[in-house]
Amino acid sequence: MSEKIKTHIFLKITKKLKVFLPFFYSKVLKLPKQQMRCLSEFLEIGFHGDLYLKEIAFHCLSQAEQFIETGTNVGSTLHYVLKHFSSLKAYSCEPDKDAYEFALSKVKDFSNVNLFNQFSPDMLYEITKSDSSILEKDTVFWLDAHGYGYQWPLKDEIAFITHNFTRGYIFIDDFQVPELNCFKWDEYENQICSFEFIKTSMNKNLMFSLYYPSYTEKTSEYHPLTGWCLIEFGHPNFNFPATLESKIHKAII
Ligand SMILES: C[S@@+](CC[C@H](N)C(=O)[O-])C[C@H]1O[C@@H](n2cnc3c(N)ncnc32)[C@H](O)[C@@H]1O
Repeated sequence: MSEKIKTHIFLKITKKLKVFLPFFYSKVLKLPKQQMRCLSEFLEIGFHGDLYLKEIAFHCLSQAEQFIETGTNVGSTLHYVLKHFSSLKAYSCEPDKDAYEFALSKVKDFSNVNLFNQFSPDMLYEITKSDSSILEKDTVFWLDAHGYGYQWPLKDEIAFITHNFTRGYIFIDDFQVPELNCFKWDEYENQICSFEFIKTSMNKNLMFSLYYPSYTEKTSEYHPLTGWCLIEFGHPNFNFPATLESKIHKAII
């Protein structure tokens, strides 16, 4: 049997187990959500493979000094960003030990990355306490910490970032895109991941711009069309190149 067929069969079995095992663990063994986790597949592309989102994030990354991600999982986006922006300093955190160790093994050859096995509010607080210059650096944030039975930290992250950092580009994944229901979004404890949900956590004195995707084309081979938003603050002359302008929509708040 060829290597290709063996890999194909292996991936098919893994996919089936991923559906069956969590059901078995929760309904038969009655384990908490964190303990029934199967490691996700590592992808060689970041931002869940959405090519327009990737272009928009790359535009911001090309102007930034550091990348801060919350919720590393197995490190797909972190690895992808490091591969393309080798001079950026990167920080990321993941509370699940197995996912954290897997991600660590993927990024071990990059010297400019700091990966933490902890919750995101703790990471944000600790890295900025030990080095306050982080707060002054232009930063791309990829806020993607959610699920697996952990407490949802998005409001704490937004409050900390908008009250402490001087400028940045905050991308929030799994966000509800107004009037475009083709984008899926997340919901925890009956709270929709949306601007309505986070707006009370934002620094009231902050001047910011809010952007949403305006395309409806699914370009990812791996995931359904997934919503996101971008909150830009601290860049008075920020704009997008003409090639991206038609892919993004600035919200009137
Ligand atoms: C969708 S995955 C992240 C994918 C990754 N950012 C990427 O783009 O490749 C979400 C991850 O957030 C982690 N997570 C959940 N709650 C968290 C918290 N409070 N702090 C940090 N990470 C958290 C989960 O364990 C999970 O691995």
